[in-house]
Amino acid sequence: MKESNVYDCSMIEMDRRFHEKGNMTVVENNGALPYEVKRVYYLYDVPGGESRGGHAHKELYQLIVAASGSFNVLLDDGVNKRTVTLNRPHQGLLLVPGIWRELNDFSSGSVCLVLASHEYDEDDYIREYEEYLKYKK
Ligand code: TYD
Repeated sequence: MKESNVYDCSMIEMDRRFHEKGNMTVVENNGALPYEVKRVYYLYDVPGGESRGGHAHKELYQLIVAASGSFNVLLDDGVNKRTVTLNRPHQGLLLVPGIWRELNDFSSGSVCLVLASHEYDEDDYIREYEEYLKYKK
């Protein structure tokens, strides 16, 4: 997705099941996302001031959720930049392929949950920003 831009990334409001004993959000492969979830991973215990990400993917879609706490997602398509704050476990940022991203400003105890469209594949990564800019041209 070389042509994607930061405005193709959108917030998705997920279902919320309120309960006096605690709320719950369910994500299923039922068409709610534009892909089937093949992999789940989560970041936690990120030291204050650290940033994660700093790469782009060629094919991978991801839904990024602040399962706990908050953090910022910096989106960059080589032309436009956008910062999205995630701080609600029932909202997810849909990240389309071909977007450079960085995650920072993690609050203490935050958990970044990622629902990904493919299994891990290092060949899908672009890890150098210069290489990313060339890829987008
Ligand atoms: P990476 O995606 O580079 O993390 P971040 O961009 O948040 O710093 O992943 C860090 C390391 O973990 C890297 O060596 C690849 C490995 N990794 C896996 O083996 N499987 C996975 O599903 C993920 C996301 C990463």
